[in-house]
Amino acid sequence: MTKYNSIMVLGAGQMGAGIAQVAAQAGIKVKLNDLKEEFVNKGLATIKSNLQRSVSKGRMDSSEAEEVLSRVRPSMALDDAADVDLVIEAIVENLDIKANVFQQLDQICPPKVVFASNTSSLPITQLAGFTNRPDKFIGMHFMNPVPVMKLVEVIRGLATSDAVAESIVELSKVMGKVPVTVNDYPGFVANRVLMPMINEAIYAVFEGVGTPEAVDEIMRLGANHPMGPLALADLIGLDTCLAIMNVLHDGFGDSKYRPCPLLKQYVQAGWMGKKTKKGFYNYE
Ligand code: CAA
Repeated sequence: MTKYNSIMVLGAGQMGAGIAQVAAQAGIKVKLNDLKEEFVNKGLATIKSNLQRSVSKGRMDSSEAEEVLSRVRPSMALDDAADVDLVIEAIVENLDIKANVFQQLDQICPPKVVFASNTSSLPITQLAGFTNRPDKFIGMHFMNPVPVMKLVEVIRGLATSDAVAESIVELSKVMGKVPVTVNDYPGFVANRVLMPMINEAIYAVFEGVGTPEAVDEIMRLGANHPMGPLALADLIGLDTCLAIMNVLHDGFGDSKYRPCPLLKQYVQAGWMGKKTKKGFYNYE
């Protein structure tokens, strides 16, 4: 059971679309919001194709898939958040942009509405500080690809209330996920552990120790990872990987978190991984 019957997901990219899908599958009404109609339509198309795959695999019948899809409504205006129970933000990993959006939402939404951020590493306490409801602000960090990955890392800000933390744990379970609650600290847990490994794999390529294929195969066959760290970096997005390394580096002030120069250079070149069809691998 969840008290959140209607939510807005902000950002219709790969994370936002995935979050909207798993919420709709759980029977929750979703407004999928983005700046432009074409972005929202792209997110809806991703959800539709995932649902069609589930139908073709016999996990869902077609009427159920249609019902799920009908629960996701497009939205291009932040004002549409006025009547939802919860907003889950999954927009670009930029503090200023997120701050601006949360300041606007704080004016639009009644005080009882809870705000969750899917940020991969920006401080929850700092984001909450841009609103007048820090007790109703929490991190809800989904993993990519959202429909497949079991975890939701639930991050409590300094002021998050117990009631809100418990309700988000409940909601995550209703969405078919396994929530694990942690406190707000740079990178939380998932990315504090995962991202230095990915960065180290990039150093191994940068220093000429091995090709991307060799590094990935070693980790797949030698450590039983489902995909190698460089393929995973491409899936996550190299801009996101760099942003997370910068948060760890700034947050801990420890040189062990310095982002690899090759990662910086790829991002400067616009090679962001799968989404730009070029990263450590080509996806044309
Ligand atoms: N969306 C929806 N479903 C997807 C998908 C996607 N993007 N990618 C794969 N799937 C589905 C496939 O359709 C397939 O489903 P079926 O049961 O219908 O066949 C299933 O997942 C398995 O896919 P594949 O057979 O194609 O390939 P696989 O067995 O290698 O699994 C994978 C793919 C699930 C991505 C797997 O390689 C994996 O677990 N990789 C690691 C992912 C990971 O570590 N994610 C966390 C990243 S960190 C993060 O997200 C946090 C952050 O802040 C950066």
